[in-house]
Amino acid sequence: MSFILCSSNIRKILSCTSVKTIVSLKMGACSKDVTKIKLNNGDEMPAIALGTYLGFDENGVVQSRDHLLRDVILKAIDQGYRHFDTASIYETEGEIGEAINMKIDEGVVKRVDVFITTKLWNTNHERDQVTVSLRKTLLKMGLDYVDLFLMHWPMGLNDDYTYSDVDYLDTWRGLEDAQRLGLTRSIGVSNFNREQIDRILQECSVRPAALQIEVHPQITQQDLVEYAQNQGLVVMGYSPFGSLVKRHGLEMSGPRIDDPILTSIAKKYSKTTPQVVLRWLVDRNIVPVAKTVNSTRLKENIDIFDFKLTQDEILKINNFNEFKRYTLPSFWQNHQYYPFEKVDNPLPNPFVKN
Ligand SMILES: NC(=O)c1ccc[n+]([C@@H]2O[C@H](COP(=O)([O-])OP(=O)(O)OC[C@H]3O[C@@H](n4cnc5c(N)ncnc54)[C@H](OP(=O)(O)O)[C@@H]3O)[C@@H](O)[C@H]2O)c1
Repeated sequence: MSFILCSSNIRKILSCTSVKTIVSLKMGACSKDVTKIKLNNGDEMPAIALGTYLGFDENGVVQSRDHLLRDVILKAIDQGYRHFDTASIYETEGEIGEAINMKIDEGVVKRVDVFITTKLWNTNHERDQVTVSLRKTLLKMGLDYVDLFLMHWPMGLNDDYTYSDVDYLDTWRGLEDAQRLGLTRSIGVSNFNREQIDRILQECSVRPAALQIEVHPQITQQDLVEYAQNQGLVVMGYSPFGSLVKRHGLEMSGPRIDDPILTSIAKKYSKTTPQVVLRWLVDRNIVPVAKTVNSTRLKENIDIFDFKLTQDEILKINNFNEFKRYTLPSFWQNHQYYPFEKVDNPLPNPFVKN
């Protein structure tokens, strides 16, 4: 889940990295070549994922209405997307599964052609709850397995959203159970810091295959990406557009869609600035997790596999780094396993009613 926080007013949102084998893949009805990245267990992950978190409002997580998301996924498959990112907290798993099953029935794809990433929510961190939760997900999706199951956050919570002291290592053992049972092909973590990843690596029976973290021009995550990639984890970057786009209706400080540096790079390749930013992630061997429900932007965002940035262009984009997170659940910062830096004025907890 993601929590998008802005300085004056919380708009919270649930939301809450040697990986070099590249395989060219012709996709479906469209001819775009989407590369793939090899995971540490030999499986391959398509190098861009479609994000499916629809946001958070006063009623909680925004729900897909009138099969909006299912129809987006149907179009996305036609346009060549093969990797979908969801989480139990997004409440989008059902429509993703429905769309994929429709396309399998139509003969457009086989199950093995599609890569599904989902995430364990914080209230299910007890070891024996992990497989229970994933089985519920699979039931909702109408599928036998997912491709990647991530621990969404290192912090466990009780059902009433008070802090649970369950150790994320116990939770990790639950993810290992899920993989052994064949409920997921690979397992990984999200929103973990370096020390937490290191602890998992020291103690695990199954090494994490992937790390999903926030990566965009304003938070380039060079150290963490390098560390994770050196340990054989594939890094997935969420919220890749950063300040280029409005975040839940709000303009964020930082480079915009018409930023002159990004625009000059985009002109050189006859691309748009969002495409340049997505390619900046791909050229760093990071899998962008980009969300759109708009048909034109769906096409635009996957059309990034016919050009490559120079090292100098990558560095120019790296220079936007301000270590700025949009997903910063500071209301959990006193949790013993909170992964990020603490702030002076934590936000009120949107999950707990006063
Ligand atoms: N692991 C975690 O804790 C975590 C946290 C946050 C997010 N995520 C995952 O990452 C995904 C993406 O993150 P995100 O939604 O925060 O950020 P994002 O993908 O960087 O930005 C999404 C926003 O950009 C707009 N957009 C998409 N393509 C565009 C384009 N080509 N030009 C202009 N605007 C464009 C979308 O609007 P339209 O839909 O109208 O196009 C939407 O408002 C989520 O959906 C979720 O799957 C994971």
